[in-house]
Amino acid sequence: MLKDKIKSLAKAYKEEVIQNRRHLHSHPELSYQEYETAKFVKSKLEEIGIESLEQKATTGWTALIKGKNPDKKVIALRADMDALPIIEANEVPYKSQNPGVMHACGHDAHTASLLGAAKILNEVKDQFEGTIKLIFQPGEEVAPGGASYMIKDGALNNPRPNGIIGQHVMPFIPAGKVGFRQGIYMASADELYVTVKGKGGHGAMPETLIDPVLIASHMIVALQQVISRAASPKIPSVLSFGRVEALGATNVIPNEVKIQGTFRTLNEEWRAKAHQKMLQIAKGIVEGMGGEVDFEIRKGYPFLQNDPELTARATDAAKEYLGEENVIDLDIWMAAEDFAYYSQEIDGCFYRLGTRNEDKGIVSGVHTPTFDIEEDALEIGAGLMAWLAVAELQKA
Ligand code: NI
Repeated sequence: MLKDKIKSLAKAYKEEVIQNRRHLHSHPELSYQEYETAKFVKSKLEEIGIESLEQKATTGWTALIKGKNPDKKVIALRADMDALPIIEANEVPYKSQNPGVMHACGHDAHTASLLGAAKILNEVKDQFEGTIKLIFQPGEEVAPGGASYMIKDGALNNPRPNGIIGQHVMPFIPAGKVGFRQGIYMASADELYVTVKGKGGHGAMPETLIDPVLIASHMIVALQQVISRAASPKIPSVLSFGRVEALGATNVIPNEVKIQGTFRTLNEEWRAKAHQKMLQIAKGIVEGMGGEVDFEIRKGYPFLQNDPELTARATDAAKEYLGEENVIDLDIWMAAEDFAYYSQEIDGCFYRLGTRNEDKGIVSGVHTPTFDIEEDALEIGAGLMAWLAVAELQKA
């Protein structure tokens, strides 16, 4: 059985995948600056014997592993490679050697896993039909997203994949388990930059001023109507303001207030409507109170939709590989992921690799200075990915 062969190879290469992950972890690079990471990936792929590497979006790669009858079907596997501007607080042998930069979202694990999957797949390529396209992308963490550059640079052409599968570590799921969700899964995320302008002066004479602090307060409250009254109860939406900057004093009303926030949802039509609604409400409140508003919406990633059929097949394949009890259903998550760009173009399946180990204290969330993973999970990270690709090629 090919599945058992893949399992035994994943076991055999586990140590190498861990070493690759540790190398990447100690040499993290920020988004769009993954130069050494890209060199490392290239050298490892060449070492495995994979040719057909194509450089995309400066620090990204695509490569092909052709089975028998390579034109039958094409499945893409994707990993992201960038790290975050965080100072690592873990005291581990593989601690970040680049001060202020840390793989705190597990993209080191994604890259190492895909390299492991590539090695496994290359070794069994005479045992499946079709082609597997490897996609190593830069810049997942920073808008507009490395995925959008990869697509613009032709990563989904020549050959065009029938579907794409991506995995992401999840510190809330125990190592040994994985999670899937069919249909809508992650949110679109737009950044809001608002400036409310009034007329500042002495706090004792408000009647001579236009108080932007009061106006901004009303505006923040009023904007929640977008969620509570304008949004369909069937479409999850979030509006949060995390920064309000009014640089006055107890007795000084400032000239302006700056506000920053995020709007997230799971429906593109509603997303566009919500933008209009926010602008309309903000303008109405601010102008009605005598001020002016500058309301900028910077669009981030689109929402992430997992193709129901591809994801159902992948879930079944994961159950065959790991056992029913180790495959869990995921809830909607209001974070954003640039994998969404691929899944807007072709069928996509984005799933979660459990990396939690409470006994070892590996429980920190992603994007924190103490984030780490249970490395035993990398055996699944590499092996399951390889198996999902092969299982999908084997299905019609
Ligand atoms: Ni991430």
